[in-house]
Amino acid sequence: MKSIDELRTLVEQELYGLKHPSSPADLYSPIEYILSLGGKRMRPILLLLAHQLFDEDIEKAIKPSLAIEVFHNFTLLHDDIMDKAPVRRGKATVHTKWNENVAILSGDAMLIQSYQYLCDLPSEQLTKCLAVFNEMALQVCEGQQYDMDFEIQAEVDMKSYLKMIEYKTAVLLGAALKMGAIIAGSRDRESDALYEFGRNIGIAFQLKDDLLDVFGDEQTFGKQVGGDIIANKKTCLYLKALSLSEGEQKMELVNLYSSESLNDTEKVERVKSIYASMDIQEHIDILIDDYYSKAMKSLNSINADLSELELFASLLKKREN
Ligand code: IPE
Ligand code: IPE
Ligand code: MG
Ligand code: MG
Ligand code: MG
Repeated sequence: MKSIDELRTLVEQELYGLKHPSSPADLYSPIEYILSLGGKRMRPILLLLAHQLFDEDIEKAIKPSLAIEVFHNFTLLHDDIMDKAPVRRGKATVHTKWNENVAILSGDAMLIQSYQYLCDLPSEQLTKCLAVFNEMALQVCEGQQYDMDFEIQAEVDMKSYLKMIEYKTAVLLGAALKMGAIIAGSRDRESDALYEFGRNIGIAFQLKDDLLDVFGDEQTFGKQVGGDIIANKKTCLYLKALSLSEGEQKMELVNLYSSESLNDTEKVERVKSIYASMDIQEHIDILIDDYYSKAMKSLNSINADLSELELFASLLKKREN
């Protein structure tokens, strides 16, 4: 059984070995650029971890794992336009280094490449994996649209937020695991349990992403800290803070999020100090723990050596980037 680090090395080797045409440069260079910036590679690693629970010969799962990583990177190109994000993985985002049209089209090409990497599967597995992949990909779009809707929607409840992050983020982790299990020939009961595990660690992962967006270290996190506050994202921090505050403090938070006149730095500082004053981090950490516990329970029905998968979940929980 391969370790997480061995799997990451394997995925990176394969990604860097992908051949892209040299022309048109503004279509393919951004693809090479975003794929060369690193990142945790957690989705392809999850697919391979799931595969090796049932079959240690992971050769036939490698291309599908690349499909998942390239799909993820496609969503990042478009997400960074939508969120007006200047920095990704510590470097300029594609739409700032090139322009928005380039980021749109390179993203589109990556989506198509991800299908190409999937299509090598034998037909029975391909049919099953495509069904999982397509359902997931549409849900990601739905989640992304809810995320944008919520920027301008005055009232957002925690339930709607949780559905939004399940769709924009968590289902991709679930699908990666489920596809790994399918390719390895697992039973439906096992691939479904792995999907549930992925969905729950995925929700926890996005909760933590929201936390790091406010309290993370910009160097380590690799993204602009405060970006969610600047974009008026209705994150779990914002919703929790609203539910815990009343009177003037509540008004202040609502006003800060709707202010057109405040400069970004001041807005971020003021919202952050409200969050800090109510120890919001601890409240979100409790929620994160809940989702990790749910995730671990989903693994109970799987009869395999789960040690690497459990290790992966515990590392993810502690992540700072
Ligand atoms: C970023 O995903 C998008 C979110 C769902 C928060 P990652 O944090 O996995 O990004 P990389 O691939 O490691 O850079
Ligand atoms: C991203 O959510 C989800 C997708 C890319 C589909 P975020 O907008 O929070 O991700 P980051 O913080 O930009 O990585
Ligand atoms: Mg974003
Ligand atoms: Mg976003
Ligand atoms: Mg984020």
